[in-house]
Amino acid sequence: MKLPARATIYEVGPRDGLQNESRQVPTADKIRFIDALVAAGIKDIEITSFVSPKWIPQLADAAEVARGVQRPAGVRMSALVPNKRGLDTALASGMKEIAIFLSASETHSKKNINKTIAEALSTFDEIVPHALAAKVPVRAYVSTVFGCPYEGDVDPEATVRLTQQLREMGVYQVSLGDTIGVANPAQVEDVLTRVLARTPAEDIAVHFHDTQGTALANCLVSLQMGITTIDASAGGLGGCPYAPGAAGNLATEDVVAMLHSMNVQTGIDLDKLAEASRTASTFVGHELPSKYLKAHLGKQARARRRAELGSS
Ligand code: HMG
Ligand code: MG
Repeated sequence: MKLPARATIYEVGPRDGLQNESRQVPTADKIRFIDALVAAGIKDIEITSFVSPKWIPQLADAAEVARGVQRPAGVRMSALVPNKRGLDTALASGMKEIAIFLSASETHSKKNINKTIAEALSTFDEIVPHALAAKVPVRAYVSTVFGCPYEGDVDPEATVRLTQQLREMGVYQVSLGDTIGVANPAQVEDVLTRVLARTPAEDIAVHFHDTQGTALANCLVSLQMGITTIDASAGGLGGCPYAPGAAGNLATEDVVAMLHSMNVQTGIDLDKLAEASRTASTFVGHELPSKYLKAHLGKQARARRRAELGSS
């Protein structure tokens, strides 16, 4: 099987994960979660969102999180930014990288950012040059690439066009989002074939939610097509509050375990990652869906029971 020797995990748990939780996680716990992800060897982390707190109250403490995290050398931290106000606050809070986002379908665009796709593009035309002038790299997401919660099927050519437009603005990478987790491997191959005809694979990332259990299969197809940046969320936290029915992201543990077992290196320590997710689950107050995490915690519990029986 043709696979890369190495893949980059772009961790979105502190942002995509926590934006969708009903419990307000305290700022100090968010920072602990991010520190634990860094300790696990993750080098690319989306730590928060500088969006309107009226729209995403869960991340209203974005500036405090950005100021509170340690930033070890070699770790890149990014945050979502929807407009000039978000960019200004992100820069003032010490962010050195940002991510912009829009949708491939008009209805999700209106529901998510209260803008048409064209309005979103003109906002980015305004803010991306400011970010680049400040030497802040910009990543971009195209959401609803594989299906829209309001419109259903989405024209793959819309994604091809938007990806080109975003790259022409100077965005360094475009992440293709399966916002509601409906993509299948054949569809991923179709969309990537179209996009990669015009864009080098290193400029594209994939961002799968796992609503129907197809995220790992979609990820495998992407790797075989040359994609080496995979967005994932510790424990499988995640979802978009403006995409009804969307489940958590592809779990970081699940994809890292699969990659390592196929000799694709990530630089991530799986035990430490599982510990970061276990801690996050106590912050959000519920179990996380990652299959690897469940198996790992089960193994630890059995080992503890054996040790207790042995010492009694
Ligand atoms: P709006 O209501 O049209 O705009 O929101 P507004 O300018 O009237 O702003 C409303 C209020 O928010 C105002 O406050 C603004 O000042 C304030 P008020 O005057 O009423 O007191 N405001 C802000 N405050 C802080 N920071 C800001 C900011 N901007 C405005 N940056 C807006 C438009 C874009 C702001 C809003 O719709 C918004 O924030 N949307 C974000 C929604 C969101 O974060 N969704 C989830 C992320 S996308 C996702 O998860 C998908 C992804 O993971 C990929 C995938 O899975 O496909 C990326
Ligand atoms: Mg997402």
